[in-house]
Amino acid sequence: MGGKILFVTGNSHKLDEANRILSPYGISLEMAVCEKLEIQADTLEEVASFAARTAAWRIGSPVLVEDSGLFIDALGGFPGPYSSYAFKTIGCRGILRLMDGFDDRSASFRCAVAYCAAGAEPVLFSGASGGSIATTARGARGFGFDPIFLGKGSRLTYAELDEESKCMASHRGEAFRRFAEWLLGA
Ligand code: IMP
Repeated sequence: MGGKILFVTGNSHKLDEANRILSPYGISLEMAVCEKLEIQADTLEEVASFAARTAAWRIGSPVLVEDSGLFIDALGGFPGPYSSYAFKTIGCRGILRLMDGFDDRSASFRCAVAYCAAGAEPVLFSGASGGSIATTARGARGFGFDPIFLGKGSRLTYAELDEESKCMASHRGEAFRRFAEWLLGA
C-alpha cells in the first residue's frame, strides 16, 4: 500500500499503537492536523462517525477516527463514552475509589474506528477486550487507564505489558485489524 492514511487524533499513544497494529498489513498512519470534533453521545460509534464525517469534509480526503473507552460493569458501563473526561477529572485513583466495596470488578475496553472519505458515509469497525479493574495502579507503560486494567486471565496491568502484547490483546488491536482486513480486501 502506498501513502499514509490520515488519523485524526491528538493522542500520540493511539497513533503509535495503531501504527504498530497496522504495520504487518503494510498500512501506515499519519497524524492529521485537524481537530477531532467530539459530540456527546451514548455510543463510541456515534462519536467516531460524527468526527470522521466532519474531518473528511474539512480535509477533503479519507480519514480515520478512533473513539475508545473503559466500561465498568458494576458502574453500569461508566465511564464508557465519557472516559476521556473521567480520566482528566478523577483519573485512575478516582476510578479505584469508586470501585471500593464492589466484588464485581469486571470491565472492558472498547474501541470504535471510523473510516470516512469526503462526502461518503463512514465505515465502522469495533473491538473490545474484557478484563477487570485492578485493586491498585501498577506499571508505567501505555496511557490513560492502562495502570488499572487487567486483561482476562492476566496478572499484569496493560501498563505492565510490553507494547506488542498490549496491541495483540487490546480493543484497539481488534478494531484496527478489522479495518486493515476490510481495506486490503476492499
Ligand atoms: P477518546 O477516545 O479520545 O475519547 O479517549 C478515550 C479515553 O479512554 C482515553 O482518554 C483513556 O482515558 C481511555 N482509554 C481508551 N483506550 C485506552 C487504552 O488503550 N488504554 C488506557 N486508557 C484508554
